[in-house]
Amino acid sequence: MIIEDIQHGFRGAMRRLASTVSLISCSDGAERYGITVTAVTSVCAEPAAVLVCVNKSASIHDPLVAEGNFYLNLLCSNQISLSEAFSGKMKGRERFELGKWETGRNGQPFLVDAQANLFCLIDSVVHYGTHSVVIARVKEVRLAEGIAPLIYQDGKYAATAPLPEFT
Ligand SMILES: Cc1cc2nc3c(=O)[nH]c(=O)nc-3n(C[C@H](O)[C@H](O)[C@H](O)COP(=O)(O)O)c2cc1C
Repeated sequence: MIIEDIQHGFRGAMRRLASTVSLISCSDGAERYGITVTAVTSVCAEPAAVLVCVNKSASIHDPLVAEGNFYLNLLCSNQISLSEAFSGKMKGRERFELGKWETGRNGQPFLVDAQANLFCLIDSVVHYGTHSVVIARVKEVRLAEGIAPLIYQDGKYAATAPLPEFT
């Protein structure tokens, strides 16, 4: 079925695009900033690089671009409350009172009990519509045991389960 209203159709299609929920975090030395993101993708492995789309109106946007580095923290399926806090339920530094945060050697805050933490150096920022597409090289990787991503699809949180033929 063709949806004539592109905005309506686009939103409907994006509800079908399941994504892992992450937090991006950074500090300018005085203040910590962080938001929930799903617009994240692996760009390539050589060099190891990711891209994140960040709304220009988000509180982290300007400090992120100014600092030029950040952590990408991949959330576990039991960390919905962190996703909610970092997407507006809590504001500013109070977001960092939830979960266990430490400061890396690079001075940036990372979520200790995330599935994975990628410390990234920004290579390029492409402005597109309401967002900045931030392309960044991965400079440090921390991995937790096991893989249990928090998924966002159809406006709801979900967890993954392998299909029977792959178990
Ligand atoms: C599941 C989920 C995914 C989101 N993904 C993104 C994203 O990829 N990029 C983005 O800029 N905002 C995204 N947001 C919205 C921001 O997390 C939200 O607007 C945040 O509160 C902005 O930070 P601020 O309130 O400090 O300005 C997402 C929100 C949710 C709930």
